[in-house]
Amino acid sequence: MIKKGDIYYPTKEIKNKAWVKDKKIYKEAEKDPIKFWENLAKEIFWFNKWKKGFVHKPPYFQWFTEGKINITSNIFEHNSLGWEKIKNKTAIIWEPELIDEKPRILTYNELSGEVNKFANALKRLGVRKGDRVGIYLPMIPEVIISILACARIGAIHAVVFSAFSPNALKIRLQDTEAKVLITADGYFRRGKIIDLKKNADQGIQETKVKKVIIVKRAENKIKMEKERDFWWQDLVEKESVQCEPRVMDSEDTLFILYTSGSTGKPKGTVHACGGYTVQAKWTGKWIFDLHDNDIMWCTADVGWVTGHTYGVYSPLLNGIPTLIYEGSPDWPNLDRWAQIIEKHKVNIFYTAPTAVRMFKKYGTEFIEKYKFDTLRILGSVGEPIDEAAWNWYFKEVGKEKCPILDTWWQTETGGILITSLPGVGPFKPCFTGLPLPGLKFDILDEKGKSLPSNKEGNLVLLPPFTPGLLRGIYKNPKKYLETYWNEYGKKVYFTSDAAYKDKNGLIRIVGRVDDVIKVAGHRLSTGELEDAISRIPDISECAVIGIPDEIKGEALLSFVVLKKEKSLEQVQEEIKKQIRKEIGPIASIKNVYLVKDLPKTRSGKIMRRILKRLFTKEELGDISTLANPESVNQIKKVIIQ
Ligand code: WT7
Repeated sequence: MIKKGDIYYPTKEIKNKAWVKDKKIYKEAEKDPIKFWENLAKEIFWFNKWKKGFVHKPPYFQWFTEGKINITSNIFEHNSLGWEKIKNKTAIIWEPELIDEKPRILTYNELSGEVNKFANALKRLGVRKGDRVGIYLPMIPEVIISILACARIGAIHAVVFSAFSPNALKIRLQDTEAKVLITADGYFRRGKIIDLKKNADQGIQETKVKKVIIVKRAENKIKMEKERDFWWQDLVEKESVQCEPRVMDSEDTLFILYTSGSTGKPKGTVHACGGYTVQAKWTGKWIFDLHDNDIMWCTADVGWVTGHTYGVYSPLLNGIPTLIYEGSPDWPNLDRWAQIIEKHKVNIFYTAPTAVRMFKKYGTEFIEKYKFDTLRILGSVGEPIDEAAWNWYFKEVGKEKCPILDTWWQTETGGILITSLPGVGPFKPCFTGLPLPGLKFDILDEKGKSLPSNKEGNLVLLPPFTPGLLRGIYKNPKKYLETYWNEYGKKVYFTSDAAYKDKNGLIRIVGRVDDVIKVAGHRLSTGELEDAISRIPDISECAVIGIPDEIKGEALLSFVVLKKEKSLEQVQEEIKKQIRKEIGPIASIKNVYLVKDLPKTRSGKIMRRILKRLFTKEELGDISTLANPESVNQIKKVIIQ
C-alpha cells in the first residue's frame, strides 16, 4: 500500500489484479445508475429477462420487474464461471472447533447434490414456494445446504442465530409462522457441547412449527418426538441429487432476516430474489476482488446478514470457496484464527472490529510466527473501526500490503454500500470510504438540507437506492414506512446513522441516531432489553444504555427502579438470567445501577441521552426542563459508589 499523508492508495500490484482500477466508473455509473445495475444484471442468468430496471411507487420500489430467476441456478448450473469449470472445485471448507476433527470439504458438485437432496426432502415434507422455513443451526455445512435448498424450491428462509435464546427463537418463529424448523442436536463452543435441540424444543412452543429436522452434529443425547422430529440424514438418504430450480419472480421473497429496531419487537427484513442476487454477486466480486483462485473467509455467523451475503451467497455466486468455522476465535489458543488462515490459505478475510480489538489486546507475540502471505484483502464490518485497531489489523495481519476495506451496510441493505474499492482507494483509517458506483448517498440536517463536507448529519440513500435494499418488514407495512420513509418523506431512505464526509467525499460513520446499540457488532435495541428486564417481578422501571467500550465498541448498562428492596447482587443475577433467557449470551449487561427514579421529560419519556452523558465527557445540557431534574443527582451518587 502507498501512503500519502494519512491516506493510503493501492499499489500497482493490487491495481493490476483488480476488477475495477479506474475511478471513471463512478462518473459513468452516476450518469445512469439504473442502466449501470442493468448492465451488471445482464451477467446473471435469468430464465426470462426483466422488463424494467427500476420501478418506484414510494415507499415501495422494484428492481428487474418480471425477470425470472433462481439464485441457486446462478451458483450451480449457470454459474458465471461455467459449471464444467467449477463443478469439481471446492465450494465449502468447514473447519470444526475440535482440533483433532478433520475439516469437511465439499465441491460445487457435492454441494449441489446435497442441496438438491435436501430440497427434495423439504418438498416431501410439504414445503412449497412462499412457505417460511426456520433455520436454527450452528456453523456447519448444513446451514448453507439448508439456505440453498430453500432458495432452490422458492421457500423463504428465516435464519435465527444459534446463540439466540429459545424465547428469541420463538418470537421470530411466531412472526414468520414457519411450519418447519431445521436445527441440530448440538454443537461445540469452547470445547463444550451446546444442547441446541433443547433450546429448539422450547423455542417452538406456541408456534406453528409442526416438523423439526435435526442434523446430527455433536452426537449428544437428545429427545426425539415421534412424527414431529426427523433426523436430517434419514430424510435425505433416498432423495435424488437432482431437483429442478423453482422459477422465481425477481420480486419474490428470497429470505426474511430479523434485526433490532427502536422498539422491543425485532423486525423481519424482507429481501427479494432478483435484486439481492445481482447485488450479492457484484459487491463481492468488486469489493473483495474475488478471482477464480481465491478463498474467502467471512467470520460472521450465518445468523447475521453478513454471514448470509458474504459467507454464503456472494462467494458461491462468484464460484469460489467459502470457509466457515464452527467455534470460538480464541479456542483452544489465541492463534486459532491465524492457524486457520494459514492452513486453508485464505486470501480474503472479512471480520468485525471487535475481533480485531480483542486480539490486539493480547499484543503481537501470538501471531508473530505467522506470515499470512496468502492474504490479499482485509475487510471490516458492523461498527466503526478506530485508528488503533485499523493500524493493528493493517500491520499485524495485512503486513502493510493488504487494503483494509471498512465496509458500511445494514441488514436492511442486503449488501455493502459504502467502501472504497481495492483497486482504486483511497483508504483512510476511521473512514468507511466512498459509496459504491451508482449509489446516491447524502448527509442531511434535521430539515432535510444537504450538508457540506465536515458537517455531521443523517446519512440517507436516494433513489434508485440499490437492488438489494429491503422490500418491507414482514407483515408490518406501518413499521416499514415509519422506520425508513418518514424522516425525510417517502422517497428518501433513512439509515438511522449519523455521518459526515471529508473534502474528498470519504464518509465517516459516527453512529446510530436511534435506540439501537451495537455490542461487539451485534445489533440490540434498548427497547427489547428494557422489555426483557421489566418483566422481572419487583422491577417497576428500567433504562438501558450503551456506553463506549474498549473491546466491544459499546457495553450495556442498566438502571433499575425497584418496587421493593432487594440487594444489588440479587438484581444483577436476575437480570443476567433474564437476558440470557429472552435474548441470549450476546447481550450481557456490564453494570446494573439501582436508582430511585429515572430522568424523564414532562411527557414521561425516559431521557437515556442524559444517562449516557454521565459516562462520557459530554456536557449534561439543560436538565431543568425535566419532570424530575433531582433524579440526575441521585443517579450520579449511585454511579460513584
Ligand atoms: C449498523 C447496521 C451489515 C453488516 C453488519 C451490521 C453499523 C455497519 C459499519 C461500519 C461503522 C457500521 C451502522 C449500521 N455499521 N457497518 N463499517 N462502520 N458503523 O448490520 O446489524 O444491520 O447493523 O451497523 O450503525 O446502521 P446491522
